[in-house]
Amino acid sequence: MRITVAIDGPAGAGKSTIAKLVAKEFDLIYINTGSMYRAITLLALTKNIEPFEVEKLQKLLDDTDMYFKKDRLILNGEDVNDELTLPTISNNVSNYAAIKEVRDKLVFLQQKMAQKFNVIMDGRDIGTVVLKDSNFKFYLNATADERAKRRYDELIEKGIEVDYRELLETIIKRDYIDSNREINPLTKAADAIEIDSTNMNIEEVVEFIVKHIKNNINYRM
Ligand code: DC
Repeated sequence: MRITVAIDGPAGAGKSTIAKLVAKEFDLIYINTGSMYRAITLLALTKNIEPFEVEKLQKLLDDTDMYFKKDRLILNGEDVNDELTLPTISNNVSNYAAIKEVRDKLVFLQQKMAQKFNVIMDGRDIGTVVLKDSNFKFYLNATADERAKRRYDELIEKGIEVDYRELLETIIKRDYIDSNREINPLTKAADAIEIDSTNMNIEEVVEFIVKHIKNNINYRM
């Protein structure tokens, strides 16, 4: 039985936590597509390649290999997950994710994964582009304040010192760039179910999604 689940939404809406739990319920492979954009950003920053240097970026993309092992992204043979959520990456990733060459390569890889496995993917363009024909699409949202608060708690728990105001500003700026870029901007697919999680906890959102999939799994296949 083929099943794909798409979860889109702005930064900090809880997509990855929720997608991992839904993945367990239905035995799906979880693909965090944001981490793929973050991985390219990490490489580009390390090599001092600016987002507008598309030829250099293309070469970098051609030389880059990435795949998921369990929920962890392996980049050119290395587990770089701990670096991917650092503020320097978060502050720059939207600029690299807006570049056509970057999106072409990562969307291609994501679609290849979805052909091979039953997947749940989270990102910005999953329901609209990557898994346009997905059986199940969700658009997860929450206010910018609530999303910044969640990211703040997450980073503090990891021992990373951050300023809440700065974090909120970064989130608002990223929302703007992600939603207004020319190629595959963040937008709710017409057939996606929108969930406002501002006043919901993780369990409530997971329960809603699981229930919806279970109730519709037979006639959506
Ligand atoms: O989900 P995240 O915050 O880790 O995503 C990091 C950035 O990558 C985000 O600012 C937008 C971009 N992104 C994207 O453009 N398309 C996706 N499918 C996933 C992420």
